[in-house]
Amino acid sequence: MILLKTKEEIENIKISANLLSRAIAEVGRHVRPGVTTSFLDKLGEQFIRDNGGIPLCKGYEGFPSAFCMSVNDVVVHGIPGDIFLKDGDNLSVDCVVDLNGFVSDSCYTFPVGEVSEDMKRLLRVTKEALYIGLDQCKAGNRVGDISCAIQMHCEKNGYSVVRELCGHGVGFKMHESPNVPNYGIKGTGPLLKEGMVIAVEPMVCAGSKNVKFSQEDGWTCRTKDGKMAAHYEHTVAITADGPQILTSFDEIENQ
Ligand code: MF3
Ligand code: CO
Repeated sequence: MILLKTKEEIENIKISANLLSRAIAEVGRHVRPGVTTSFLDKLGEQFIRDNGGIPLCKGYEGFPSAFCMSVNDVVVHGIPGDIFLKDGDNLSVDCVVDLNGFVSDSCYTFPVGEVSEDMKRLLRVTKEALYIGLDQCKAGNRVGDISCAIQMHCEKNGYSVVRELCGHGVGFKMHESPNVPNYGIKGTGPLLKEGMVIAVEPMVCAGSKNVKFSQEDGWTCRTKDGKMAAHYEHTVAITADGPQILTSFDEIENQ
């Protein structure tokens, strides 16, 4: 069942989203060669808790940390640890925040130090795919319109989209209906209605779309071919006036 949110509930999800966006920006201020992903995770977790939020990934089905920190060929669900960032890496910082019972979800992939032109292009195209998907988040459209727009933009640029994981409803819980795949057919899938809140999150591979999950930790999701991946995510509400993007990259990009 797809839970619709009132205007007031959407305002509350926006307050949660604002804290989440500030937390990701706070982590971003410390992303540089030589720091570890566990250092960044602890710093981000402290920021969320200091501001009254709960990082929902921690303890979710046994996930051990507040943030997913995914480096290079790790697509998503990287577990923070003694992993030292180095010049030319990418780091995706993914987090879900509960503030006063309202839940938001966002991810930003940061370049670490100086990155290659290939890496810059992967990050740019993945972020473009996110906003192209968000443009489709209008009442009367269908989930497949979002999925198709994301897939087309990535594939026309020579990249592929992951099939095993997808975007989702959000707002009262981390994962609600509907699923929002990053591939699909226009005009198909659930109808988008005013009051729906969803997380749109293209997970994009520079090479083939195939991924593998770590046997050791059960979480870390890597590209099979070892090529780079990127991931951007916003929480968005479908309103009478079109998409209202609740999370924001403004603080990350204007600091
Ligand atoms: N942003 C991720 C998602 O959309 C958060 C889940 S990570 C987990 O599913 F570690 F909590 F599973
Ligand atoms: Co998500």
